[in-house]
Amino acid sequence: MTEPLLVVAPMESLTGMPFRRVHAHFFGSVDRYYLPFVTPTTLPRFTDRQMRELAPEVNAGIHAVPQLLTRRPADFIWAAKALADLGYDEVNLNLGCPAGTVVAKGKGSGFLREPAQLQRFLDAIFSADLPIAISVKTRIGWADEKEFDLLADVYNHYPMMKSLTIHPRLRTDFYKGDVREKVFEEYFASFKMPLGYNGDIITVADIRRVSERYRPLAHIMVGRALMADPALFRKAKGGKAATLKEIQNYYDALLESYRVAFGNLKNSLMRMKEYWFFQHNLFDGAEKAVKAIYKAKTLEDYTDAINRIYETCPLRSEALYGWKKPLADD
Ligand SMILES: Cc1cc2nc3c(=O)[nH]c(=O)nc-3n(C[C@H](O)[C@H](O)[C@H](O)COP(=O)(O)O)c2cc1C
Repeated sequence: MTEPLLVVAPMESLTGMPFRRVHAHFFGSVDRYYLPFVTPTTLPRFTDRQMRELAPEVNAGIHAVPQLLTRRPADFIWAAKALADLGYDEVNLNLGCPAGTVVAKGKGSGFLREPAQLQRFLDAIFSADLPIAISVKTRIGWADEKEFDLLADVYNHYPMMKSLTIHPRLRTDFYKGDVREKVFEEYFASFKMPLGYNGDIITVADIRRVSERYRPLAHIMVGRALMADPALFRKAKGGKAATLKEIQNYYDALLESYRVAFGNLKNSLMRMKEYWFFQHNLFDGAEKAVKAIYKAKTLEDYTDAINRIYETCPLRSEALYGWKKPLADD
C-alpha cells in the first residue's frame, strides 16, 4: 500500500513565500505546501498582495496548493478558476480557522455551525464544473463532537472531493488540549473520499503510527512541528536529521528572505521570533535562552541570542512538543 504524502499545513504568517522557498531549498522532502488562506473578494481579481503568494513564479519548483476562505460560492468559483489559470491543480477550502473575526462572518470553522448552508455552498462549487480539483480542510465541529455526524454526512455527498483533511479539534478547542483522535478513528472508514490527518504530529514515530493505523491515508499534514524541526519529513522518508550547520544556514537564509520580502529589519526580526517559538524545541534546555531572542530589538541582539542557543544547547534528534497548550487557560 502506498505511503501517505507528507504535506505542510497552511499557516498564516509562517508558511508564506519566504518560508516555502527557503525550506524547499534546504530540506525539501515535502510533497505539497498548502498556502495560508486567501480571502477572495467580490471583485473578481486577486490583489497585488495576494499575488505575492500566488504568482506561479513565486512557487516555481514546489507543489503548492492555494487555500480559499469564503462562504460565498460566487467568490470561490471565480477564485478557483483564476487559480486554475495560474496553473494550480488543486484548491483547498478552509473550514477550520477559529479566529473570532473569521467565524463572526460565518467563515472558516464558523461555517460548521450551519451544515445546511454549507451543503448548499458545496453543491454550488462542486456542480460548477471547475477546471481544478477541490479539497477541504475541516475541524470536527463547533462545540460538540456529535456535530461531526451531520458534517461527515454532508461531506460524503461529495466523493469527487480531492481530499478531506481532518483536524480533529472543535472550534471551541482552538489549539488547546489533545486532538480528539478517537473521532477521526470512529469516522475513518465511513468516508468516501481520500482522507488527510492533521494535528499534533511531532516526531517520525508519530508519522509512522498514524500511517500504519489509518490505511489508506492520502496524506499527513504537519504544521507547527515542521517549524520546530524543518527536517522532519526528510527523516520520515529515510533521510538524516538536521545538522547544526543546516539550521544555521537555514535561519540566515530565512532572515535574508524576509528582509527582501518586507524591506524592513524590524518586521523581519518579529517574524523570526515566531519561528523560534517553535524552533527552540529542537534544542535541549533552550527555554531560557529563547527569551533573549524574543527580547531582541536589534540585529546584533538577535544574532547574539541565536548564537547562544547554537553554542550552548545541544541539538536534539526530535523536537519536543513544547508549544502544547493545556485544555483550560487557568
Ligand atoms: C499561526 C497559525 C496560522 C494558521 N493558519 C492557517 C491557515 O491559514 N489555514 C488553515 O487551514 N489553517 C491554519 N492554521 C492551522 C494549521 O494549518 C493546522 O491545522 C494546525 O496548526 C494543527 O496542525 P499542527 O499540530 O501540525 O500544527 C494555522 C495555525 C497556526 C498555529
